[in-house]
Amino acid sequence: MADFQNCDSCISSPLELFERVTAQGEKVRSLKAEKASTDEIDAAVKLLLSLKVKYKAATGQDYKAGSPPVDFSPMSNNGPTTALDEDFVDPWTVQTSNAKGVDYDKLIVRFGSSKIDKELINRIERVTGKTPHHFLRRGIFFSHRDMNHILDAYENKKPFYLYTGRGPSSDAMHVGHLIPFIFTKWLQEVFNVPLVVQLTDDEKYLWKDLTIEKASEYAVENAKDIIACGFDINKTFIFSDLDYLGMSPGFYKNIAKVQKHVTFNQVKGIFGFTDSDCIGKISFPAIQAAPSFSSSFPQIFKDKKDIQCLIPCAIDQDPYFRMTRDVAPRIGYLKPALLHSIFFPALQGAQTKMSASDPNSSIFLTDTPKQIKTKINKHAFSGGKDTIEEHRKYGGNCEVDVSYMYLTFFLEDDDKLEKMKQAYTSGALLTGELKKVLIETLQPLIAAHQQRRKQITDEMVKQFMTPRKLAFDF
Ligand code: TRP
Repeated sequence: MADFQNCDSCISSPLELFERVTAQGEKVRSLKAEKASTDEIDAAVKLLLSLKVKYKAATGQDYKAGSPPVDFSPMSNNGPTTALDEDFVDPWTVQTSNAKGVDYDKLIVRFGSSKIDKELINRIERVTGKTPHHFLRRGIFFSHRDMNHILDAYENKKPFYLYTGRGPSSDAMHVGHLIPFIFTKWLQEVFNVPLVVQLTDDEKYLWKDLTIEKASEYAVENAKDIIACGFDINKTFIFSDLDYLGMSPGFYKNIAKVQKHVTFNQVKGIFGFTDSDCIGKISFPAIQAAPSFSSSFPQIFKDKKDIQCLIPCAIDQDPYFRMTRDVAPRIGYLKPALLHSIFFPALQGAQTKMSASDPNSSIFLTDTPKQIKTKINKHAFSGGKDTIEEHRKYGGNCEVDVSYMYLTFFLEDDDKLEKMKQAYTSGALLTGELKKVLIETLQPLIAAHQQRRKQITDEMVKQFMTPRKLAFDF
């Protein structure tokens, strides 16, 4: 945070005002403790009172120590006052009362990001000369920050790199976990750029009931699934925080820089931490922020501190990167650009994200063809009608039908998808028939993934996870 001097023009947000009131309160307390002169104390108290008045004018609330104005902060999203019928999205919770899922347009407004519109998709096509991935065409990656900077840089032959990650909370990954990686692989191919993948085993150790050893083990198992997505070993560095942090002074220095420039009040406002959260959680956001800066990877970028970063991720990770973007210019770095995806719905419906701990909430990468079939037939929420007669008459509702939603993720053929949508909506296609198409799409896809994963040796994992120069000269 900037120095909170007596400078009105410095105040740009209620959060800063809050910080100033807090700092001034502390100053008054220490002046009293130091038994400073009455004049000095009176002046400080006067300033404190005037700041409190300004705070109230800006927020409509009385200043309360320890409670930052989260719903006014430009970096925060879900204030404690979030209405019950509003969607709630943060890195740990995704809740909506709407069967169609989260209202993503509203989220764009609330998070202050930009929509990936037709114009941007066309520009990506023009710049790369490649057909945009169906995740872009179908609004699965729907929001961004500064993607136009990345395209400008690319057109001017300036390098950039990709950064994404995964929190390894178990060895069972489900199909939803693949979405950012499938898309990242496409980005790596069309732009031909380096990729770093962060495995936050430290995060999962801090948040879950896991030992350090278990978390590290999951990191390696998850790395295999990530590698099986087809990343180029010469262009990809995968790292586990628990390992890499101790090996890389560049990484740790950036973590410390971020830590120095974000206050406890800010992370409370952004992530909802409370006084009883362990200090590991409170400082963790700096660890997820640091890979956004190229100097965290000197083995790849040498001494270059200004290689722009592009982060494909699910929208629930945005709070980390709003924080990162806020800090970046203050520590002399470029803000990372972002591409946000919608959530992959649970089989039971789009109200919530899938959970790796409920085996029936999703299709796992280890499921057999039979399990896939049974799960979809038994658990995939249907937008069809109760009886065949009614369905034929009124048609099904694709907007809430999970099998249809899954097909938008995994059926690449646009024509076929559109035909099925029409047939389902008109009632010509029954739920069972739609489910059959999904089953036949997912079974070979997962079998192929299992096949590729089987070929990945420990030696290959080790190679991907060794800090090294990649096939790019910086
Ligand atoms: N926190 C993320 C998770 O729990 C993992 C992660 C770390 C990540 N760095 C990232 C995800 C960058 C996307 C982009 O899954």
